[in-house]
This record gives sequence, structure tokens and C-alpha cells, in this order.
Amino acid sequence: MIAIGNDHTGYQLKMAIIEFMEKEGIAYKDYGCGDVSSSDYPEYAKAVGRAIQKKECDKGILICGTGIGISIAANKMKGIRAALCHDCFSAEATRLHNNANILVMGARVIGVGHALKIVETFFSTEFSGEERHERRIQMLEEE
Ligand code: RB5
Repeated sequence: MIAIGNDHTGYQLKMAIIEFMEKEGIAYKDYGCGDVSSSDYPEYAKAVGRAIQKKECDKGILICGTGIGISIAANKMKGIRAALCHDCFSAEATRLHNNANILVMGARVIGVGHALKIVETFFSTEFSGEERHERRIQMLEEE
């Protein structure tokens, strides 16, 4: 199950991604926001992050204008590895190396077609499981 959340700037891109996931039969849960009126990105980062922490969802997608604010908010949460990706190389690499559990994009940065390719790449790539990557991910959780 994929948790998806966005602020107002990400609403239209979120709806395009939802349409894509429905066509592909990918299960998702929408954590808002539900329109283009002004909203606060930390709220949606926290909702999606919590869904992953509670194991209601195993991965997530977050969208704001740049992808930056919502990444900062999500990455403050324990166990969350949110990767801001605006290219398929990064989307693949962050799954292989970082076992990223949230894909973040900036709706004001990329077009819908590119974003959908990034979504496809991120969710079709498994973590490599290599020891050095496991070790580094463990280190992220240390104080
Ligand atoms: C909203 O105007 C914008 O600041 C937000 O979507 C995001 O880009 C913040 O990082």
C-alpha cells in the first residue's frame, strides 16, 4: 500500500499519479490535501510518515512545490527515508542504495510525464540488500 500526500501546489500532480496508479492496479491511500487552497506541507509529510511508521503503508509519495519543504519535514521522522528525485537515475539509485521509503517530487519543478516515469522507476526497484548499504542505513538511525 502506497501512502500519498501533498500540499496545495502538489494537488494536480497527485491526481495525475493517482490516475496512473489506478490504471496500473497499484493500491494507495490518499492523505490529502484535497484541493488547491493554501495548505501547510508539514501536515501531509507527517500524515504519510506516520502511515509508514505504523506500517499501515509500506512506502509513500509526497509532493510540494519544490519537494524540499516536504522532504525536510518527512526526514525528521524516525525510520523515514524520503528521497527528492527529479530524474529516474536518482529514483533507481535511492531504492537500491538507501532503501528510500518515500519518493518526493516538486510539482513546480517537473512535468507530469516525467514524474510518472520516476514513480514507475522508484516502485519497480527493490533495495539491493548489500551489506554496505544496510550498514549505512542503520547508521542513519543512530543519534
Ligand atoms: C508553497 O508555496 C511552497 O513553499 C511549498 O509547496 C514548498 O515548495 C516548500 O518547500
